[in-house]
Amino acid sequence: MSTGRIPREFIEELLLRVDIVDVIASHIPLKKSGSNFVARCPFHSEKTPSFSVNRKKQFFHCFGCRKSGNAIGFLMEFSQLDFIEAVTDLAIFAGLSVPHELIRQNASYAQINFAALYTVMEGIAAYFVDELRTTEAAKKAVAYLKSRGIDSEAAACFMLGYALGDWQALTKQFEQALLIEVGLLGESEAGRPYARFRDRLVFPIRDKRARVIGFGGRVLGDGQPKYLNSSESPLFHKSKEVYGLYEVLKKHAKPARILVVEGYLDVITLAQAGVDYAVATLGTAVSEAHLELIYRYSSEIVFCFDGDKAGREASWKAVTAIFSVMKEGRLCRVMLLPSQHDPDSYLRECGKDQFLALIQQAQALSDYFFWYLTEHLDLSELESRVSIVDKSKQYLEKMPPSIYKDMMLEKLQELSKVNVTTYIKDTQRNTAKPSDHQRNNLTSLRLSLERRALIMLIQHPDLVKCFKEDQFEWAILDFKGVEIFLSILRFILASKPVNTAILLEMFRGHAQELVVNQLAGVELDIPINGLEAEFIGSINRLIEQAKINKFNKLLLKFENKSLNSTEQEDFKQLSKHRIK
Ligand code: GTP
Ligand code: MN
Repeated sequence: MSTGRIPREFIEELLLRVDIVDVIASHIPLKKSGSNFVARCPFHSEKTPSFSVNRKKQFFHCFGCRKSGNAIGFLMEFSQLDFIEAVTDLAIFAGLSVPHELIRQNASYAQINFAALYTVMEGIAAYFVDELRTTEAAKKAVAYLKSRGIDSEAAACFMLGYALGDWQALTKQFEQALLIEVGLLGESEAGRPYARFRDRLVFPIRDKRARVIGFGGRVLGDGQPKYLNSSESPLFHKSKEVYGLYEVLKKHAKPARILVVEGYLDVITLAQAGVDYAVATLGTAVSEAHLELIYRYSSEIVFCFDGDKAGREASWKAVTAIFSVMKEGRLCRVMLLPSQHDPDSYLRECGKDQFLALIQQAQALSDYFFWYLTEHLDLSELESRVSIVDKSKQYLEKMPPSIYKDMMLEKLQELSKVNVTTYIKDTQRNTAKPSDHQRNNLTSLRLSLERRALIMLIQHPDLVKCFKEDQFEWAILDFKGVEIFLSILRFILASKPVNTAILLEMFRGHAQELVVNQLAGVELDIPINGLEAEFIGSINRLIEQAKINKFNKLLLKFENKSLNSTEQEDFKQLSKHRIK
């Protein structure tokens, strides 16, 4: 599949042009502290700052939650952007425009890029709207909408459309390659393309920037499958998008709460009744990515799933997904509908006021959580009390530290009468202690020689100038982790990144990305003017050690008279060296 790739050189240029200190300071307040800038970490809650930004390395690092990266990484994490979006935002910040590399994978895919995909999606959405308004065939779709009580204003607001029954309708209007790329055409077994949506009501799915990224389609009546989504595409990832978010934000820039419901039609019916702050997942379980996305716009999420068994299971699943994104200031409640209802049917039967009352009565996350876990337990029995500690452990351990978490733990203690802190590791908190900063420095003193050398190289990639390639005997190096050391070294030698930020960028998506990121954040106490000498010294000692190891190995073989001819030669050389 082709993507609008951004040229490597542009990304390097961008990272050279911007200063990470300015980028981060435009989002959170930074304070100067020595040669670094520090702040309270935006990625976990803490009272004392352990988030630090280094101008020379163009790198940020949190000693608490250990998140780290360059300016692109910061934007991806902070603003929940994908790579392309983060680069684009950074380019705007730097006043540059992003060139997209057009990669040609086969003749019919020539010149496909994101702009073209968005344009075709917009065209398709408008086409579907047109079909709904004007065609004879769409009459039954209009009638269906009417039967579901959806008025023309709501239909317009959600840009509802109709896809004709014709297998080839779309291909007559739009370029086939584009239709395949955006997930609107499937391929028959005989290899013939066909329209995914035929004789269906269609719901365009828009992202927060109003761009159509996908579609949902419902049969008119009772056919199967009831709903379809356009397939995953460069624009559309079901596990990260929700339906209706654009429409919510159009009404409220900062909604007090956002309801999460299951169905497209729930969203629309609610909006039409004035509950215009609901979004729906797209037939998938609620993911952490969904929740992070929603929490960017509102501090409270209310789950409002169907009252049936499946809906109840979905609520529990959603609640368990929410633990790892639960930070200070974020709220979550769970609303339970009577078993025969979904939000749409409840609203129609009981009216808006009663629905709003149900929102008011929604259970707080903690109440729901413990209610669910203890529903079938008798807490006067010891086994039951043990069982709730056991069951809640995995979820509570995922929560970042917060007053909220403390209260959850207290509540668990109250219910179980067990001193839960001995059973439930407060892992996140342990790593977030302010003293961690110091611990990090201490461990750096005890780092092995090779680790220290690698860290120096990652933090000051210009040190490669110390290697005169013909004289450097790296093939002999031999220690635990030497493969990583050499692969990073080769990488730096081959591409000569100017600073750590650019080096990190080159490792994005590589197997060693995490290692490089972590090592970039370790603080070594080496004065800048002693760096080169210490680096050369370490490398020489590593080579020396390797020679000794090799000599000892060969000596053993020599004594067993099992040296082959190359080994004999090596042994002779190394013996000379030892005598010197
Ligand atoms: P209505 O019958 O139109 O009121 O639908 P609903 O939204 O109440 O449907 P339901 O509760 O059955 O499903 C909730 C959501 O799950 C839908 O909005 C779809 O996103 C998804 N879904 C339901 N049925 C299917 C299906 O057959 N295939 C797929 N892929 N998704 C489905
Ligand atoms: Mn329904």
